[in-house]
Amino acid sequence: MRIYIEEHYKAVAKKAALIVASQIILKPKSVLGLATGSTPIGMYKELVEMHKLGEIDFSEVTTFNLDEYYGLPQHHKSSYYMYMMENFFQHVNVPEENIHIPNGIAENILQECLKYEEKIRLAGGIDLQILGIGANGHIGFNEPGDKLNVTTHLVGLSDKTILDNSRFFDDYNEVPKEALSVGIATIMKAKKIVLLACGENKAEAMKEMTSGYVNTKVPASILQTHPDITLITDKEAGACI
Ligand code: GLP
Repeated sequence: MRIYIEEHYKAVAKKAALIVASQIILKPKSVLGLATGSTPIGMYKELVEMHKLGEIDFSEVTTFNLDEYYGLPQHHKSSYYMYMMENFFQHVNVPEENIHIPNGIAENILQECLKYEEKIRLAGGIDLQILGIGANGHIGFNEPGDKLNVTTHLVGLSDKTILDNSRFFDDYNEVPKEALSVGIATIMKAKKIVLLACGENKAEAMKEMTSGYVNTKVPASILQTHPDITLITDKEAGACI
């Protein structure tokens, strides 16, 4: 496990963007696994800047987002689809047909999950997976529990996650209680994983996930067994590592 503890958020964003850029320069047809939340916003900004300067070309890149809220149509202002469009896809040249985000209003959710897995498999798997982390140690929307789901599935969100994510909605009651999420095994199959964490509310989760113990109550802890994992944190999130 490689661990970088940076001075501040901007340095975390820059380092993450440099890793994504190197991946694409070395393999233009890369398959990226992408995350949402406030943490990767700076990384997306940096990537957009690099693209504007002609430093990275996304024209052969394929992307798979980790998750989407169940029941939110694509154009809902708090959907992850909108987040990705506004923060990234509108500003770069990933071909539309190469962009994949789970459909939160699919008629048949089980089929949507199976189809999503199949698309990842047909694309050749994820080359580089970007992850954030929930304050409770979740990755994607794989919440703490007795068991962890291995492939893409519908998941019930924990009270903590609903509360944490309510800042992206007008009202707490508007936050969906369920989401579609890529599963733990799918994440673990990525060739490289980069996890970003910022802020003191992530310090405990980061401590647990680097403790040497794997525990389903801290889903991110399984990442310790991945052969190519890089953590990039700011000083606050990395304080207890
Ligand atoms: C959400 C997303 C996760 C993300 C987490 C942390 O629950 N599903 O993929 O890692 O939030 O978000 P933030 O970066 O806003 O703290």
